Amino acid sequence: MKVGTRRARPASGLSGLDGRIKVLVTEDAHFSHAAAADWLGLGVDNLVVMKPNAERRSDLQRAAEDMDRILRDGHDIGGILLNGGTTYDHAIDDIAGFVKLRNDLVQRHQLQYVPHIHVDSVVGWVWLMFRNYDFDENELGIGREALRLIEKQTRRIEGIALADSWGVDFHKGVGGCPVDCSFVLMNNKLDFERLRKGGNPVADIHQLAGDFSSYSPVDYTLETSRAGGKALAALAALHSLGLDGYRRVLARVIEATVTLRAEVAKHGDMAVINEHALGYQTMVRLFPPESVGDDRRNLELTSSDDQVAKFTVQVNRYLKEFFGWDNRTRMNVNAGGVVYSFSKKYITTPSGSDISGLKFYIVSPRTDPEHAVKAVEVIRSRKDEFDNTVWRARGIKP
Ligand SMILES: Cc1ncc(COP(=O)(O)O)c(C=O)c1O
Repeated sequence: MKVGTRRARPASGLSGLDGRIKVLVTEDAHFSHAAAADWLGLGVDNLVVMKPNAERRSDLQRAAEDMDRILRDGHDIGGILLNGGTTYDHAIDDIAGFVKLRNDLVQRHQLQYVPHIHVDSVVGWVWLMFRNYDFDENELGIGREALRLIEKQTRRIEGIALADSWGVDFHKGVGGCPVDCSFVLMNNKLDFERLRKGGNPVADIHQLAGDFSSYSPVDYTLETSRAGGKALAALAALHSLGLDGYRRVLARVIEATVTLRAEVAKHGDMAVINEHALGYQTMVRLFPPESVGDDRRNLELTSSDDQVAKFTVQVNRYLKEFFGWDNRTRMNVNAGGVVYSFSKKYITTPSGSDISGLKFYIVSPRTDPEHAVKAVEVIRSRKDEFDNTVWRARGIKP
């Protein structure tokens, strides 16, 4: 966001922002994007949220309309922040499509600057490890469905080569480093220059011995003193795991995810609500016993009907009760079995209700498909126990 606003307002480091800069973010963006808009003085009201399609990828056509409107209204675009692996679905936007859209926009509106495109790829970067993998040869012997998902996702993340900047979290998922270990990469060195303290009249860095060093480790960030440990941790992880190490770990969690989803699908009162997701996160919905045979179960993600909205709210209540009970009586007391979390709002459905889900996020490189089978067995038996001893006893009706 900082680089993007500097592109649109080169003097903003001195003059501040004038309230006429808009930044485009995605509907499923991490909350840190809004927090950054606040901290930077850009203002959360100046974020324009791009709508997603059914796969939770940002809709290009609607984003084009948003951008045209922003410019027609006399505002400028201080950045376009794309999905590069969302928190829930690991959704990656059509990066090449957005770059083309941005370039066309520059031509059409005769812009004097090129709006910056950043991809929040702190989760999705790891699929880059498969960029040169021979998917036909499949040397690692990855299972067919997992391989299909990995190839599709790899083709999507490759687009970051066309973006202006992107992020890497080595502490997430299969990154292999302790929290926190993050990087931001600029594809063009000029964008780093836009942040430099030294190359910029805003800050006088006379306390540093610039005359005797052409390189300053404090130049690009807010802080001055900074440890190098994190960079070394990342380097150590890259060298010790290597390309195939990362590939194997990622393939394992994807294979376990494929099994987990298939196991959930065997139960009529459970559903995976992010089947389209190519990553290793699975959102599961459990339905109360009274709802067996209720057609609304299949309509929650697509219908705008009021009755479906009502049903979604009721199932959310059931799911929250179930999670609270399972957490209290098993997970929080370390009684064994799978550990998962509760997401109050996976997405907002077309009926306007927020839909909740149980979030299964496989991160251990030692996870095998058998663990996924066991996980669903635990959920099955816990659900039966909850339905029979808690839910029915309370006489709560859906
Ligand atoms: C897509 C995405 N972006 C950004 C973040 C923030 O990451 P962190 O504060 O761990 O670097 C997260 C965290 O889950 C995320 O999922």
